[in-house]
Amino acid sequence: MRSYKAKMVEPITLPSREERESAIEQAGYNVFNLDARDVYIDLLTDSGTGTMSADQWAAMIRGDEAYAGSDSFANLAESVHDVMGFEHVVPTHQGRGAENVLYGVLLEDGDVVPNNSHFDTTRAHIVNQGAEPVDCPSPASRDPDSTASFKGNFDLDAGRALVEEVGADSIPVVVLTITNNSVAGQPVSMENIRATAEFARDIDALFVIDACRFAENAHFIKTHEQGYEDASIAEIAREQFEHADAITMSGKKDALVNIGGFAAMNDEAIFEHAKQRAILYEGFPTYGGLSGRDIEAMAVGLREAVTPPYVGERVEQVAELGDLLSEADVPVYLPTGGHAVYLDASEIFSHIPKEQFPGQALVCALYREGGVRGVELGGFAFPGTDRPDLVRLALPRRTYSREHLEHIAETAAEAMANADEYDGLEIVEEPPMKELRHFSARLKPV
Ligand code: F0G
Repeated sequence: MRSYKAKMVEPITLPSREERESAIEQAGYNVFNLDARDVYIDLLTDSGTGTMSADQWAAMIRGDEAYAGSDSFANLAESVHDVMGFEHVVPTHQGRGAENVLYGVLLEDGDVVPNNSHFDTTRAHIVNQGAEPVDCPSPASRDPDSTASFKGNFDLDAGRALVEEVGADSIPVVVLTITNNSVAGQPVSMENIRATAEFARDIDALFVIDACRFAENAHFIKTHEQGYEDASIAEIAREQFEHADAITMSGKKDALVNIGGFAAMNDEAIFEHAKQRAILYEGFPTYGGLSGRDIEAMAVGLREAVTPPYVGERVEQVAELGDLLSEADVPVYLPTGGHAVYLDASEIFSHIPKEQFPGQALVCALYREGGVRGVELGGFAFPGTDRPDLVRLALPRRTYSREHLEHIAETAAEAMANADEYDGLEIVEEPPMKELRHFSARLKPV
């Protein structure tokens, strides 16, 4: 079921096979270098690419552009309070702005920060403060075929082992990312949120939630965790934050906007300190690098995210894409996540050795076969790690229809059927910072 209809449409075209061949070659076999107009279905990210509601557009007209003390800020503060339960909010231009503001306040040189899995910008901001990010994903996450319900959980044993190793004094902050983007968009259970909060308290650390996809996570708790069947998404969403000292939020995901983010907390001292840092990097603390209309749209989007039937339909559409792919015998990471389906490139392109980037070759094949743009999140994007070679197909919110999903599944099946036609890739040009190479490197077939 879809509880919305289109009010405005954006034309998209599928370039000819020849045009696609030429475009990907000119892009150096890196889809970040493609012009968006040459992409038919864009699954590069679910971040800022979704469709806003008529209410959000209407709210934008009301946006109050006052430099200080705008009504739009007051509306955002009220939404954050009602939906997430925090007293204080510091708006920022997007999620990474919130990371910069908050971690600049909480961390010092030499600190160690465990997280179920750091997203790349979170990792970079923690490193930027001189601290060391450590991933503690649940052991179940390593099995792409296990259909366990909460594979995004924080591994408490790994957390405790880390305390043994570095000492509790070195760990001022414990982070939990819901859902776990770096682990195939898998959710975190309420039980694990509670237990991770308790782990943080035990070692006298602050407990921070990376809340980007908090509504999608709440949906999984409602549908898969005992005791939550009858709770509303809004109730579950708030309960997730009950034990958190602070959050960082990218509004581009579950606040349903094209740009925006914020940090939120209850502690006065942290709030005051964060505001000062926000003035330096983001803007006066009632606009945080955003226009009043952007803030207004975010205030409305946050409430929509927890109002049924939005998030149920959203996660079901992702599962529907997973089902279509599975029916076409394309190997996907199971269960499907909240925002994306992850393809197993090492299986689909098993003839390409890991060092020749099977995931990146598959990303290029999806574009050549059907103008579909996904993203590699394996050995190319994360050099020097033993990450599985997964390709993420992230669905923008409220944007594509069943026909688009069918085209995506047919395209993936074609790429798999024509696997022999695709060679591995080698890098011919890359930026000095290896961690960021997937955004701009150029490659060629081996
Ligand atoms: N945390 C998580 C878990 C994220 O997925 C992202 C962004 C951020 C923080 C940073 O937020 O982009 O607003 O600065 N993820 C996008 C993605 C870019 O494609 O997964 P941002």
